[in-house]
Amino acid sequence: MKALPILKMGNPRLRVTAAEVVDPTAPEIRELLAQMRISMEAAGGVGLAAPQIGVSKQVVIFSVPGARLEQEGDGPSDGIPETVLINPKITPIEEEQRLGWEGCLSVPGMRGLVPRYQKIRYEGVDQFGEKIDVEASGFHARVVQHEVDHLDGILCPERMTDLRHLVYESEMEDFMSAFDEMSGQKG
Ligand code: NI
Repeated sequence: MKALPILKMGNPRLRVTAAEVVDPTAPEIRELLAQMRISMEAAGGVGLAAPQIGVSKQVVIFSVPGARLEQEGDGPSDGIPETVLINPKITPIEEEQRLGWEGCLSVPGMRGLVPRYQKIRYEGVDQFGEKIDVEASGFHARVVQHEVDHLDGILCPERMTDLRHLVYESEMEDFMSAFDEMSGQKG
């Protein structure tokens, strides 16, 4: 099985509302998941939604190493093991939203400051049809909100409240020094 190309912003298939999965244990879903894994690993992401490889089904996968969670300010962690989330539903636990940096395999080379709920509950089923019901905060919550947005045809730049904070990775360093000056922080 070969990695599939990830669809990029502008592709109409990223805009579609994904269909609910009737049987999460069906062979076609198992195949889809294998394809998503390979494609996500090849592209080097922490999460992928099925529409990003052109399949309009409510399926996302994510896995975040502990080191990355720590780097994102979530404190010491063993990381999030690979999670398959099918037919997800998100409920914010707290109203508070925080800005944090996000990238997207469908918006390659760029990063943006995106407001997200800090604490959420997400529900759904996994690839065995087992119920998932998890409370998440910080970067974990951010990743889930980002991936589930793909199922509603929403890309992270559309969640941004200030597009001046949409930055090419190559300009990140210059941006951050100017940003720290703007916000009066030293760093
Ligand atoms: Ni994305």
